[in-house]
Amino acid sequence: MRATLSSLGGLRMIGRPALRTRGTPESGTARNLITWAAMLMALAEAAWLLFPPARALVLSYEETPAVRGYRLAAGLGCFSCHGPGGNGGTKNPGSEVGEVPPFGAQMMYVTDDHDLREYILDGTPRRKHEDADYKAKVEAAPLRMPAYRAFLSASQVDDLVAFLHTTSGQILPHKALPKRGAERAAELGCFACHGPLGAGGVSNPGSFKGYIPGFWSGDFDELVRDDAELRQWIADGGIPRISEHPIGRIFVRRQVIKMPAFGHGHLQSPEDIDALVAYVRWIRRTASRRATASPRSRCSRPSTASRCGT
Ligand code: HEC
Ligand code: HEC
Repeated sequence: MRATLSSLGGLRMIGRPALRTRGTPESGTARNLITWAAMLMALAEAAWLLFPPARALVLSYEETPAVRGYRLAAGLGCFSCHGPGGNGGTKNPGSEVGEVPPFGAQMMYVTDDHDLREYILDGTPRRKHEDADYKAKVEAAPLRMPAYRAFLSASQVDDLVAFLHTTSGQILPHKALPKRGAERAAELGCFACHGPLGAGGVSNPGSFKGYIPGFWSGDFDELVRDDAELRQWIADGGIPRISEHPIGRIFVRRQVIKMPAFGHGHLQSPEDIDALVAYVRWIRRTASRRATASPRSRCSRPSTASRCGT
């Protein structure tokens, strides 16, 4: 806000002599116009930088339920027990495996989305309420799954389930090439920047839309027109269509987080790029639809998990 006021103040100082020294009405009007134009530009720039909601109004700001759920999970403290991003690692001595389960290993405890909902709302799924063994096990460990029922709206629970679903590690391709891509993507940490399964990335100050684009929808289709561009993004960290564009290049340079160039000696073989291309394409085509289509997807059932890939 202070930046806006001081830049306006500065403009007024520039504007004043112009008003006092004007000779003919015509040149005064022209100077006034220039002053106004400069002021409008400064305002627009300030609004762009300072008010993400203003930017969201102008641009199509994309947000999937899975990403909303991811942010919500961070805000609700889920990651303090389930580890950064829900990837596990927090010790829970006395529990069955000695650690709080990561979200990627839900198979161990959860059979479907109904269970996920009940875990979030009540801390345990209903089918386990009467299970004395289970109770004893849970009570033997210091960290327990809290009940969030009193703190969440129905749509927030939906978003959390969408996030848990995408991050479950059970939406996987079956063909060899994209499968290899999935392994590389996990090693290279693509989703730490692009969000769970590429559902939409983290904030990125200085970038065009203010966040790292995902692989699921319109942002992706604008940035990746064909496989050649996709390959170039992964290998070189950018494409000339954007990095040499007069406006695009300003944001490419200014953004805080940049897309790494993985092709420059950071991959075991050139086929790894083919694998990543195939995997990202598979996510755009199949996984994004599967993760959003049915909240009660069969893919979260261990018995039918084999039917979930293509
Ligand atoms: C105080 C620590 C703690 C917090 C905070 C916490 N959990 Fe848990 N959570 C646990 C523990 C411990 C278990 C294992 C329970 C069991 O054995 O059934 C668990 C189990 C779960 C499960 C089922 C098991 C699995 O494999 O993941 C889900 C789903 C889950 N939590 C989601 C969440 C979500 C979503 C949040 C935030 C809204 C959250 N948890 C916050 C400790 C926590
Ligand atoms: C350190 C964070 C980071 C990591 C890790 C990362 N990316 Fe990116 N990626 C970005 C940023 C930032 C952009 C946007 C760059 C721009 O606009 O100049 C981007 C853009 C892209 C794009 C362009 C289209 C789009 O919608 O995102 C693709 C495709 C892409 N990355 C794929 C990958 C793949 C595959 C991996 C893992 C092998 C990966 N990225 C890892 C930060 C990252």
